[in-house]
Amino acid sequence: MAKNQGSATSSQSAPSLTDKPGDGAPAVSSQAEFVVVANRLPVDLERLPDGTTRWKRSPGGLVTALEPILRSNKGAWVGWAGVADADLEPVTEDGLELYPVPLSADEIAEYYEGFSNATLWPLYHDVIVKPEYHRHWWDTYVQVNRRFAEATSKAAAHGATVWIQDYQLQLVPKMLRMLRPDLTIGFFLHIPFPPVELFMQLPWRTEIVEGLLGADLIGFHLPGGAQNFLYLARRLAGQPTSRGSVGVRSKLGAVQVGFRTVRVGAFPISIASGQLDELSRSKTVRDRAKQIRKELGNPKNIMLGVDRLDYTKGIDIRLDALYELLQEKRVDPSETVMVQLATPSRERVESYVQMRGSIEQTVSRINGEYAQVGRPVVHYIHRPIPRDELIAFFVAADVMLVTPLRDGMNLVAKEYVACRSDLGGALLLSEFTGAAAELRQAYLCNPHDLDDTKNAMEQALEQDREEGRRRMRALRRQVLAHDVDRWARSFLDALEKAGDHSTTVVAPPTNRSS
Ligand code: ADP
Ligand code: G6P
Repeated sequence: MAKNQGSATSSQSAPSLTDKPGDGAPAVSSQAEFVVVANRLPVDLERLPDGTTRWKRSPGGLVTALEPILRSNKGAWVGWAGVADADLEPVTEDGLELYPVPLSADEIAEYYEGFSNATLWPLYHDVIVKPEYHRHWWDTYVQVNRRFAEATSKAAAHGATVWIQDYQLQLVPKMLRMLRPDLTIGFFLHIPFPPVELFMQLPWRTEIVEGLLGADLIGFHLPGGAQNFLYLARRLAGQPTSRGSVGVRSKLGAVQVGFRTVRVGAFPISIASGQLDELSRSKTVRDRAKQIRKELGNPKNIMLGVDRLDYTKGIDIRLDALYELLQEKRVDPSETVMVQLATPSRERVESYVQMRGSIEQTVSRINGEYAQVGRPVVHYIHRPIPRDELIAFFVAADVMLVTPLRDGMNLVAKEYVACRSDLGGALLLSEFTGAAAELRQAYLCNPHDLDDTKNAMEQALEQDREEGRRRMRALRRQVLAHDVDRWARSFLDALEKAGDHSTTVVAPPTNRSS
């Protein structure tokens, strides 16, 4: 994928669904010393209308962050290929060893769309929409987590380090430890870990906490998430119960589970900032950024949103803020355009269907009232954008709109900053993102407060050049110094110590950087 970063798709060496090693796709030769396990592989298999297949980059921040790490650490990636019933052999694709885990159509509906994205996702994002609790979804979640644990057990060499990712696979640490006690197991949660009162709603809260406690090290973005988990570990897994829970004692940063010490800490994730900085300085990207401005009609201000189309991202809020600013004549539609690039996401989950409808209605309303022929105020693109093109948009944008109601980190905010070596541009950033803990010089706003969001948007649009340069310089210092390599190194170093069962570990690894 690195060599395909300018494009959203890659069609070379794509196996057909019947490919087996020896049929053309390079086989994976041996078990790996380092294994990343995530619901999705870094590439999705796409079935084309003519019956052929190709790999394309998977959506989301997890893949953005982990793909360069797997490349530099040389290992295997266990995950789902993104389509139903793809029974693929392990394959090497563009230098990465992939171990596909098959999911049936029913498992996609119940484990992925159901329990992962209609139960856990809204519950962990402060119940922005109401989580649904269904026992058959839970049963399928257990079944699929077991399949991931078994696939990982086959992929990992004796004594290997395994790094399990995110909310879809919270039972895998315990299941894998039972299968393979020789492994060192880390877990990282890419989304917020919720407040205790919300987590307690979950009918399977004890099983989830015990599942996670199978790891040697559990990582969260922020210390608050780690603290919530430590409290819950003591409360839910602390006393022997009829379900056979193990005795747990927790101190700050460590949980004692029987004879094992599980470490818990905060590791704020980041991006390959140096690489993005370099790409954004290239003449091709600079020229494309100028061309984008021209194609938009050379407006005074370009505002940009870049998100998966997800209700957590607050796309509706930034549109509502713009609409009111236009109504109040605080923004001039002949001078300002907004571009919203929205990757399709979880399109069969009902809350996503509804949100898409309402966002598209608001875009139409704004354009209906304020556009001129050939000059829309809001440009809305509902498809993934190739990486180079995205970087050119970051370079072109005067104001970057990052307004989630809740977000574990938000890598887009960091990507924008990494792309602004010219010290131009302004970042509007929700206080409810993990990134806000580090990017204090952004224009921070409370997205639940529309007036506050409007004021921050207006300030960002009207910022004085010198003030903007001062803020961007400080933001860049943070993002360039704390890149994804540093994140992975700090997690993997702590994991190595935690997995060394001869040492007693006490202190929490809180890698907070601001
Ligand atoms: P999440 O992981 O919830 O999707 P993040 O902001 O952490 O949110 O990461 C999103 C990743 O997906 C970033 O690397 C971003 O550049 C990429 N991305 C988001 N929207 C698009 C888009 N419309 N086209 C291409 N890439 C996108
Ligand atoms: C977020 C989640 C990831 C997920 C990604 C894309 O980043 O933390 O686990 O892979 O969104 O979502 P999707 O449902 O398409 O995998």
